[in-house]
Amino acid sequence: MTTTAVKPEEYDVQEAIDKIVAEYGAKPSALIMILQDIQKHYRYLPESAMHAVSKSMKLPIAQIYGVATFYRSFSLKPKGKNHVCVCTGTACHVRQATVIVDKLRRDLKIEPGETTPDGEISLETVNCLGACALGPLVTANDIYYGNMTVSKTEQMLNDIRAGKLSAKKDEVAG
Ligand code: FES
Repeated sequence: MTTTAVKPEEYDVQEAIDKIVAEYGAKPSALIMILQDIQKHYRYLPESAMHAVSKSMKLPIAQIYGVATFYRSFSLKPKGKNHVCVCTGTACHVRQATVIVDKLRRDLKIEPGETTPDGEISLETVNCLGACALGPLVTANDIYYGNMTVSKTEQMLNDIRAGKLSAKKDEVAG
């Protein structure tokens, strides 16, 4: 899914965070959901937003950082408008997932964990996406690309650059 990123300096972060916290209630058990909403909003967890959460929920900042850094789905760095994730878990690895990673590194000129300088595409690797039979498996935004090949990777990048991915939203390529 492509979201519109909002820069935290563009408006009152505390006010925005207070609203999100009020939706869930300022209880520690709601922290993950609150951080998920914030990440959806900014595409990452800005430092200013985490301090605002700490203040709003009256929780120590160390606890907020602890949760934000424990889960790989949270990012403390800005992510691109589009998010490409390659599974390099065992099942995908034996089916040449590294060839796909190399193709993406070459084409995007970034390493896993980085975002293209134009902010368009982030690249990430994970250990298992839970659909090992489809390996090598790649997701682009929320779309699954199973049995991925170099040429399908090329097509996927073309679709991303042409803004065509959301049209394929419910499609499982395989
Ligand atoms: S190892 Fe790739 S989906 Fe499980």
